[in-house]
Amino acid sequence: MVRLTSLLRDPLKLKQAVPPAVQSWWNNVPLGPPDVILGIYEAHKVDPNPNKVDLTVGAYRDENGKPYVLKTILKAEQKIVDKCLDKEYNDIGSEYFREVTYRLAVGKELSDRAHVSVQSISGSGSIKLAAETISRLYKGNKLMFIPNPSWAYHAPMFELSGMNTAFYRYYDDRTHEIDHSGLMTDLMHMPDNAMVLFQMVGHNPTATDPTNEQWREMSKILKNKNVLVFFDMAYQGFASGCVDTDAFAVRHFIEEGHKVVFAQSYSKNMGMYSVRVGATTFMVDKKEEAESLMEVMKHLAMCCYGQPPIHGSQVVEEIFRDEKLHQEWKDELKMMTGRIHKMRHLLKRKLEEIGSSHDWSHVLKQQGMFFYSGLSVEQCESLIRDHSIYVVKNGRMAIPGINEKNVDYVVKCLHEVTK
Ligand SMILES: Cc1ncc(COP(=O)(O)O)c(C=O)c1O
Repeated sequence: MVRLTSLLRDPLKLKQAVPPAVQSWWNNVPLGPPDVILGIYEAHKVDPNPNKVDLTVGAYRDENGKPYVLKTILKAEQKIVDKCLDKEYNDIGSEYFREVTYRLAVGKELSDRAHVSVQSISGSGSIKLAAETISRLYKGNKLMFIPNPSWAYHAPMFELSGMNTAFYRYYDDRTHEIDHSGLMTDLMHMPDNAMVLFQMVGHNPTATDPTNEQWREMSKILKNKNVLVFFDMAYQGFASGCVDTDAFAVRHFIEEGHKVVFAQSYSKNMGMYSVRVGATTFMVDKKEEAESLMEVMKHLAMCCYGQPPIHGSQVVEEIFRDEKLHQEWKDELKMMTGRIHKMRHLLKRKLEEIGSSHDWSHVLKQQGMFFYSGLSVEQCESLIRDHSIYVVKNGRMAIPGINEKNVDYVVKCLHEVTK
């Protein structure tokens, strides 16, 4: 770093160091890529049509179409208030928070494995912290393979951390299933020491996850490639309703000795979307590796955002400390996924009853927050423009936006645009 005082003594160097005067610093800035979902969601908010339905945002809605705050979260918050907990700096999260969050991912059996877990800012912040850390430390190929399609921010997050990304085949649009041969072939062709991103469960946007058998096959293929396997676990518990069932993939890859990194989020499974609580974990070979890795992550986090917010982690701690509350949380998670499941069945049955000859069987094959309908951009645009049913234009619909009051209208309009 050059000191300003030495620069001031050397006018020539100073001239070179400081750019020439500009009219405006920020003119001619190209527009950033638009968020494909938020724009449609905003349009929904100002639509005066009383029948409008929002199926855009990946957040749970109750049977009246309203955002849902989990009762367990409210109870935990009350406890925090009653205990007058402080709001000191949160460092990398408390040991207790990091431990229970790690255990939520890996279960009891693997809980003694060497690892580093750092609290971060929900799923997004946790992926980004992982990306920054990997980018600086990883000695293999800086090439991250991402499923096609995937959450829109996966590729830019890694690219903005200085890595290259490439897609691997994942989903077959014709069968509405995993593109089994495409996926396995692409995994086989992955270069040694590369990185691969998997969405552990509740894949966004396709709502289509590998079976346990397919995960086993994927693990076998990658076994001798020394690939870094990154799991985005944003929807743990939100597919089957059970956090353990949903964690099969990450646990299997750890058991099989892969080099695993994962990002967790409490946005969906605790409905703490805007509270921003999650964690980044690196599995390591030896406990000694953990210490320096933790220091690097802590430093990177400090440089990016300082320390993670404490409120959400206190809520999580309360829910894990109190057995009764913990069970109530699991029950609420089951309730949310149960309603989604019920809506899938209702949607399919009513589409048949209305006489739709379109194939809707995939609504029941899929799981998690979304229905990846396979509707064309034009059909989606018609749903939005002609019927005030707001969907993402790749055909993704958030099932929680459907309820017993609006399902008939949704079905009528889906039938209309697919005739
Ligand atoms: C696949 C996936 N990963 C990560 C995220 C990030 O979510 P959050 O930052 O709220 O945890 C999302 C959000 O929708 C997602 O769909």
